[in-house]
Amino acid sequence: MVTVRATQLELDTAVQALRAGEVVAFPTETVYGLGANAQHAEALQRVFALKSRPRNHPLIVHLDSPRFLHRWVSNMPVAAEKLAARFWPGPLTMVLPRADKVLDLVSGGQTTVAVRVPSHPMAQQLLTAFGGGIAAPSANRYGHVSPTRAEHVRDEFGDAVPVILDGGECKLGLESTIVDCSGDVVRLLRPGSISLTQLRRVVGDVQVGAVSNSPRVPGSQQAHYAPVTPLSVVPGGDLDRLADSLSDGGQRVAVLAQRPPLATYQYVTWINAGSRVDAYAHDLYANLRTLDKVGCARILVQEVPDDERWDAVRDRITRASAVAAHEDAGDSMAAGVLP
Ligand code: TXA
Ligand code: MG
Repeated sequence: MVTVRATQLELDTAVQALRAGEVVAFPTETVYGLGANAQHAEALQRVFALKSRPRNHPLIVHLDSPRFLHRWVSNMPVAAEKLAARFWPGPLTMVLPRADKVLDLVSGGQTTVAVRVPSHPMAQQLLTAFGGGIAAPSANRYGHVSPTRAEHVRDEFGDAVPVILDGGECKLGLESTIVDCSGDVVRLLRPGSISLTQLRRVVGDVQVGAVSNSPRVPGSQQAHYAPVTPLSVVPGGDLDRLADSLSDGGQRVAVLAQRPPLATYQYVTWINAGSRVDAYAHDLYANLRTLDKVGCARILVQEVPDDERWDAVRDRITRASAVAAHEDAGDSMAAGVLP
């Protein structure tokens, strides 16, 4: 991958905007973030408003290194120390006991705060130049597909987000792994490219899922990461038959598969995303955006292997299909009840 760095002018503009309480979109190794000064209430409000995100949905604070962690976290559990040493900077977010001064808009009014040290060189540059914590959700409207290129952020927000640092395509393409380290045992709240096995190698026991069904934790929010077009996840063996029959009446169908089609079908747009998980994850959101634009009635996504390495991808496509199931309830084309 080419290492991308911001020019001094770009950095100055971004830092000034952050200091003035404006939002700045910036690249990370996972997805693009919509950043705001994490100590500036109005700036945070702007983020929630731009995204149409519910106020009780907490944000991740991004730092350039753990050196100022004590400003955000009241105490660092041993497990968290180990995970930070192993995975930071990188695609790991840790939920930790919050320091008193953390704004409720960041923590969602909870006793914890989510923190991450991203590795993307441009994110690092920005955080170091700014010198504080940047709260940054993914730079997409609430519930939508996350952006993995600067142009995706532009597509989502247009001129409403004037400062976008362009760091090229995000290397990983899926949001960070989130672990809750605030309790007795480490819990995996959102799967990402750092797997359960990798986490367990460092801290031993890791439980999957949140303790309670709080609406504030990512695990409990079924419908998310979704394109506008209804999406269904279907077994590889059914893919060709379904694509063919759904498009029979002249309806356009989009397919995201891990192989080429068995024949040529009229009205079917087929993307072969391949069977390598890293490449599949890297391209997933860009592919969903592409398929969303072809003007089709439905997107069929081939079920991914039942293998830990695919956990994060499976999580995102399952949530994307949950929106369709939700909105189409009662419709015979609803996700899961395809002909
Ligand atoms: O890869 C990523 O994590 C990207 C990049 C920009 O860093 N950010 C991202 O942020 O995905 P966002 O806001 O789209 O997702 C953050 C998730 C939310 O689902 C939120 O519920 C959860 O983190 N979260 C934040 N603070 C939390 C807390 N104190 N307890 C539990 N979950 C928390
Ligand atoms: Mg998000």
